[in-house]
Amino acid sequence: MFDTLPETSLIQPFGVQLDLVEGLMENPTRRTERRASAMRGHYNDAAALEKIIEGGDPVHYEVLEVPVPEETGHLMFCISRLFPGTVGDECFMTKGHYHTRVNTGEIYLALRGKGLMMMKTPDGECRWEEFRPGRMVYVPPYWGHRSINTGDEPLVSFCVYPGEAGHNYGDIETEGFPKRAFIRDGSVIVE
Ligand code: F6R
Ligand code: ZN
Repeated sequence: MFDTLPETSLIQPFGVQLDLVEGLMENPTRRTERRASAMRGHYNDAAALEKIIEGGDPVHYEVLEVPVPEETGHLMFCISRLFPGTVGDECFMTKGHYHTRVNTGEIYLALRGKGLMMMKTPDGECRWEEFRPGRMVYVPPYWGHRSINTGDEPLVSFCVYPGEAGHNYGDIETEGFPKRAFIRDGSVIVE
């Protein structure tokens, strides 16, 4: 009956309740957190980050999921909550990554807060898009991506991406992003 791809598992349909006011996934079955100490090497001001780590190593962001098979044909989805704050004057951000399968894109829907999706290609082209509730950002295939919280409440977004995408953090750790976001005199500066 089906012209199935052999590597795609057949699973049962399911639904997940989202709280669109708080920007939460109710009863996620997987929660991944990254504390400040997981962000070493990513911020301009390494000493300021060490102070935050010494001060209790707070959760920087968390990812809520109901995982599905990481295979072609399936769609991964999650809610990420990136807390507000700065390291020195640089806005809190996610580590960022390329997808391991570089020809896979991703859709983000901002639910709460204010921020930026910073994107770059391997040859250094850089673009960013604004996050605010109700705004969707399309991350095309090949673009590395990182969320940045420029506001004073959690930045919450829902994302969907192909099951086979995978995450490549190593190349972003080596390359960094050409642009960063700072709060200076109450304004957001990208430079
Ligand atoms: C998945 C994706 C998001 C991020 C999440 C945390 O492909 O882009 O779900 O994984 O926002 O960011 P990272 O993975 O960079 O720590
Ligand atoms: Zn991604």
